[in-house]
Amino acid sequence: MLRLLQFTDTHLMADPAGSLRGVRTLPSLEACLAHARRRHFPADLIVVTGDLVQDDAEAYGTLELLFDRLGAPVLLIPGNHDVPAELERSLSHEPFQIGGTHLVGNWAIVMLATWFADAEDGEGQLGHEELQRLATALEAHRERHVLVCLHHQPVPMEATALDALGLRDADPFMAVISRHPQVRAVAWGHAHQSLDVYRGATRYLCTPSTCMQFKPRDPHFVVDGRPPGYRVIDLHDDGGIATEVVWLEGYQQ
Ligand SMILES: [Fe+2]
Repeated sequence: MLRLLQFTDTHLMADPAGSLRGVRTLPSLEACLAHARRRHFPADLIVVTGDLVQDDAEAYGTLELLFDRLGAPVLLIPGNHDVPAELERSLSHEPFQIGGTHLVGNWAIVMLATWFADAEDGEGQLGHEELQRLATALEAHRERHVLVCLHHQPVPMEATALDALGLRDADPFMAVISRHPQVRAVAWGHAHQSLDVYRGATRYLCTPSTCMQFKPRDPHFVVDGRPPGYRVIDLHDDGGIATEVVWLEGYQQ
């Protein structure tokens, strides 16, 4: 069994007191990491699925310090609030890996970038190159079980405002996934809430932010009172997945 921990939408800022819709993002991330260390370590793999910073490249240094010492590879992808060139400059060294495919046990973890330069307002797009990279990776790893990670939701969150900022090319993405039954799960962030649904035999997982959450299935962006959270994903040899969202119940900043 491999233990993977997913943290997402950390929205760090250079100012350590910086907050997003009322939640200070640095202490809430620190609390999530401390909680995970106590309850769910050791981990074989850490994934951080975008919006690592809040449009503030200076904060990649903070992220580096926090994730450098966890004793596991850290797979990263940019979200709409990231600055990919600066992300590459700051975190292109071990234990970090930006994008790409990571092989561990009989699993392949495929990390896809949905950040694109012409985004108007936070929506995502894989584009031809990432879709092709996904298809190539799935062809190359037919014998493995696969977890795909990205930032934007490929399935509707049933929330109008959020879904307007989803994945523009979700249809071709889902078409590729449907041709490759070895994809056991797809995990993302962006929506700052939890979701766990199936499409066919593939499980689709949205993970809450390490800072503030949005109210599920609300047509507008409404801040939810739920605390910071992260996800534990145990990947079994036979392709089985055991996963839970861990909420920091009672968290107070
Ligand atoms: Fe986002």
